[in-house]
Order: sequence, then C-alpha cells, then structure tokens
Amino acid sequence: MNFQAPKGTFDWLPPRSELVLAVREALSAPARRAGYGYIETPTFEDTALFARGVGESTDIVTKEMYTFTDKGGRSITLRPEGTAPVVRAVLQHGLHNGPLPVKLWYSGNNFRYERAQKGRYRHFSQVGIEALGAEDPALDAEVITLGLDGYASLGLTGVELLLNSLGCKDCRPAYRTALQSFLRGLDLDEQTRARVEINPLRVLDDKRPEVRAQLEAAPLVTDHLCEACKAYHEEVRALLRAAGVTFTDDPRLVRGLDYYTRTTFEYVHGGLGAQSAVGGGGRYDGLSEMIGGPPLPSVGWAIGVDRTVLALEAEGLAGGDERAVRVQVYGVPLGEEARREMFTLLRELRAAGVTADMAFGGRGVKGAMKSADRSGASYAIILGERDLAAGTAQIKDLASGEQTAVPLAEIVTTLKEKLTT
Ligand code: HAM
Repeated sequence: MNFQAPKGTFDWLPPRSELVLAVREALSAPARRAGYGYIETPTFEDTALFARGVGESTDIVTKEMYTFTDKGGRSITLRPEGTAPVVRAVLQHGLHNGPLPVKLWYSGNNFRYERAQKGRYRHFSQVGIEALGAEDPALDAEVITLGLDGYASLGLTGVELLLNSLGCKDCRPAYRTALQSFLRGLDLDEQTRARVEINPLRVLDDKRPEVRAQLEAAPLVTDHLCEACKAYHEEVRALLRAAGVTFTDDPRLVRGLDYYTRTTFEYVHGGLGAQSAVGGGGRYDGLSEMIGGPPLPSVGWAIGVDRTVLALEAEGLAGGDERAVRVQVYGVPLGEEARREMFTLLRELRAAGVTADMAFGGRGVKGAMKSADRSGASYAIILGERDLAAGTAQIKDLASGEQTAVPLAEIVTTLKEKLTT
C-alpha cells in the first residue's frame, strides 16, 4: 500500500522546512520583546467551546470542524483556531485575576475542513498573540505593529494592512438591522437569503461576482459606529500613523469568526493569489462572556505560518542552497573500530560547539567522501586502520584537499582552532 498525506495536508521537508522555523521565530520575537509569555493549549477542546466562541453560524463551525466523539462519549474538536482556547485557559486558571492585560503568544497547528487550494489547507500552522483584559487603543496599536514588525524582520515588503472597526454591542445591532433590510432587497439564492437572517455581516464577504456587484451600495459599518467606537477607532488610527504605519481603511472587511468587536484588521500579501490573507485579528471584547466568563475586553492576531512562507518565496526571500542543513565537520570511519572511535570523537566535537556528522551504514571511502562533500563540511576526519594503530586521524581540508595526520587526543582542539581562524 502507498500511503499519502491526507487531502489538504502536506509535509514540510528540509531544506524548505527551515523557513517554517525561521518564520515562527521571527513572528514571535517582537511579541516576546513586548512582554508576551508563551502559552500552549491542547490540540483539541470541547466542541462547545468553538461552537459558542467562534460562532454557530460561521463556516468554520457549520462546515469545517474536525469533530468526533471520544471513547468517553465527549464531543471533541481539533482546534480550528487559537483564540477561544487561549481565553478558555485564561479563565480556567484565573490569569485574569492578576495584572492586566494578560499577554500571551502561541504557535501551533490548526484544523479546518476547507476546500484545499494553494495557501488553503486542512492542516495549517499559526503564530498568534492575545492581550486580554484591557480596553485601550494603544494596546490595539501595539498588537497590530507587533505583527508588522515580525514581517519586516523577515524582510517582507509586500504586506499590507487593512483596517476596520465592527462596532460594539451598542451600535452593531442598529447596523445589523440596516444591513439586513438592504440585503433583503437583493436578488440572492436561498442559502444566502438564509444567511442574511442569521449572519448578515458574512454576506459582505461573499466572493461571487454576481453578489459583489449587488453589494456596492451596502451600508457601511463605519457609518453606523456609536460615538465611543468612533473615537476609539480614530485613536487607533492616530497611533498607527504616529508609528509610521501605512494602512488602508477597509469598511467592508469582515472576518470569518463571530467574536470580533471594534478594531479588526488583516495583513494581506499580493503575491499569494486568492488566499491573500497572511494574518488577521482584532478585538473580541465579548468572547469571554460568550464562553461563560466575566467581561474581558481583549485583542490579538494570528498569522499563518504556511502563507508567510509562500510570501517569502513570492518575494524571492526564501534563499536557496544556503538553507540546506550543513555541518562543519564530517567523519569518514573505515572499519568497525574506527566507527566506534569516530562516534566518540563526534560527541566530543559537538560538546565543544562544532557541528558534525559522519558516514553511517558502513559505506566505502568513495561514497563516504561524496557525502562529506554534500554535507557542506569544511573538514573531514578520515580514520582508517593504519591511523588507529598510530593513534592519529587524518584531517582533510575539503576545499584545498590538503590532508594532515593529527593525534586523536588533539583532533577536537585542532579542528576548533581551524574553524575559528
Ligand atoms: P483567521 O483569519 O481565521 O483568524 O486566521 C488567521 C490566519 O491563519 C489567516 O490570515 C491565514 O494566514 C491563516 N489561515 C487560516 N486558515 C487557513 C488555512 N485553511 N490554510 C492556511 N492558512 C490558514 C484566526 O484564526 C483568529 N483566531 C485570529 C485572532 C487572534 N483574532 C484575535 N486573536
């Protein structure tokens, strides 16, 4: 039988997988510098957490969740996103009773049963940050700029910021009603008409041209914000401008999750085709209450690691050969006793901070030397029977071909010296 990775999933292999590590590191570093602590939550949660948190009428909950009943009869769901789990963990452990905001970052896999295409997978990875328990435009601006700092540190120049405000529980209902009465007058299919009644904001995100054309005159949320939301949004915008951030106001920006209030934003990249969102987030002041907690106004984002790698490749920043896993020293043992000795030597070299690998599988000298060249090493240690008898090994400079016999006891210091000069 020939097994394949399940549809919509794929494997990251070296050397390309190095980019995944680099992206996770680069995206989390700015948050760590800003006082965000690392949180790791389970890969699965109670299904009800997402149903209530993400929203019963979202695509994620109605169509895309990997849900199953475990052997104890519980309904379990592989996490489609990380925000609801983080809020659950904060509430469960009472972190919100300490100093606020609680600042957390995470990195992990997510699962959505989506139609697979380039940049859209059923298994994907995100880095995210959440700042919980503070309503402060400066916190929104901090969160937004930390994402941009991550992209910038990767050298990406093509990331654009789209910004919107979705209002609050005071002004959203009136906008919802205005939008619904506009949408009811359009020529829409049955399914979309049903959506108008349940989740009208989602209709604004319809990608079909025949629907888009009808949406041009739709009322905009930013025209329906209450005074407090308007002032809040203006302050976020002013802080971003003061930070030198360019952004595009996008009053039609709606997100695929229902918990958002006020500030919402997306990071988009032009080089990715249809799936242009490399990250997104916003404020979710009501989420805690939706899952049974106290009011806990919060803001955060999640950035897609896989899509960020695609963005790096689109901008030609992915590097080529230099990404390959390389070592400084490569061991070529000839014979069983030599292998035993080489095994020990390598451990000593690595303990001394030298990266080292060796030929495994008892290969002949020719094959082993080929591997030494491929490994990118500067030096090979060749150890044959005659060397062993003399208590030495040959150090070969792989660039010049020059070879010298060195006493075994001096191999580590000799190589260390050669590699630092
Ligand atoms: P989201 O917009 O659903 O937000 O996902 C964030 C990012 O994850 C997207 O911009 C995209 O880069 C990546 N992503 C999402 N779905 C897929 C997929 N099927 N394949 C590949 N990449 C994908 C959230 O998940 C919210 N929890 C963000 C947030 C945090 N809001 C507040 N705090």
